[in-house]
Amino acid sequence: MNTGPIKNLGRSFDRVADAYDAARPAYPDEVYRAVTEVSGVEFDGATTVDVGAGTGIMTLALRARGSQVIAVDPGEAMLARLVSKAGGEQGRRVEAVLADGNALPLADGVADLVTYAQSWHWLDPAISIAEARRVLRPEGAIVGCWNLNHAAQAEWLAAYEARLAREVPAYWGPAVEQWSVPPIASAFEVIEERWIPWTRLIGIDDFLLDLRSHSYMAALSQERADEVVERQRAELRREFPEGVLSVPMRVYLAVGK
Ligand SMILES: C[S@@+](CC[C@H](N)C(=O)[O-])C[C@H]1O[C@@H](n2cnc3c(N)ncnc32)[C@H](O)[C@@H]1O
Repeated sequence: MNTGPIKNLGRSFDRVADAYDAARPAYPDEVYRAVTEVSGVEFDGATTVDVGAGTGIMTLALRARGSQVIAVDPGEAMLARLVSKAGGEQGRRVEAVLADGNALPLADGVADLVTYAQSWHWLDPAISIAEARRVLRPEGAIVGCWNLNHAAQAEWLAAYEARLAREVPAYWGPAVEQWSVPPIASAFEVIEERWIPWTRLIGIDDFLLDLRSHSYMAALSQERADEVVERQRAELRREFPEGVLSVPMRVYLAVGK
């Protein structure tokens, strides 16, 4: 791992790195097909800079599709998990860089894609895009995507989100009236935006581990987070005694220049 001088960024996720690594969902295949279709960039042989790579959910999927990936993140604990999963022979095609995505320690024109999977909203909206444009080759593209609970598709999920909105001060999600997807489409020249629906089958315990990995939960004391989780567990077990949830999800994808 390349460890240059780094500001104190990304720390909130470092506190929940284990939960993040264990329980956050992957992106459905359709997301990767759509990226190639919209951007014209084939992953095989491409170089992708995955900014805010975290534990490597997108990094490893890009590598599996043949891309060389430079994974950038300022969170040491998050990036350590990515490095341990990307190890061995295959690790040669992933370079992990501990750095701020607003100041990429990379030369100009080295990448075919810059991806922000669930991460662009943590960066400066204008500086990050200027950096992405700087490191991209002329035919390259910028990709932003967010994997979201589609609360409007299931009453139980809307009720779950509403309980979070009531109980967690920093909650930001579909139960907040002003909530919307991060405005990356207004920060770059959009090629196309898509919504990609999918369904996540998951046990209640793993679903609640995923909940613990959100930054608004990391902002709570351990005791308070436990209370919130246990209240949700009791409610979900009452509604789904068999212990399995079918969660309507959707990925917001924006590809631009
Ligand atoms: C919600 S996680 C997304 C992780 C991963 N891309 C995924 O899809 O699961 C957001 C990540 O953005 C990182 N991050 C926060 N500030 C950043 C910055 N200034 N530059 C780059 N990454 C940043 C955090 O450390 C965290 O790992």
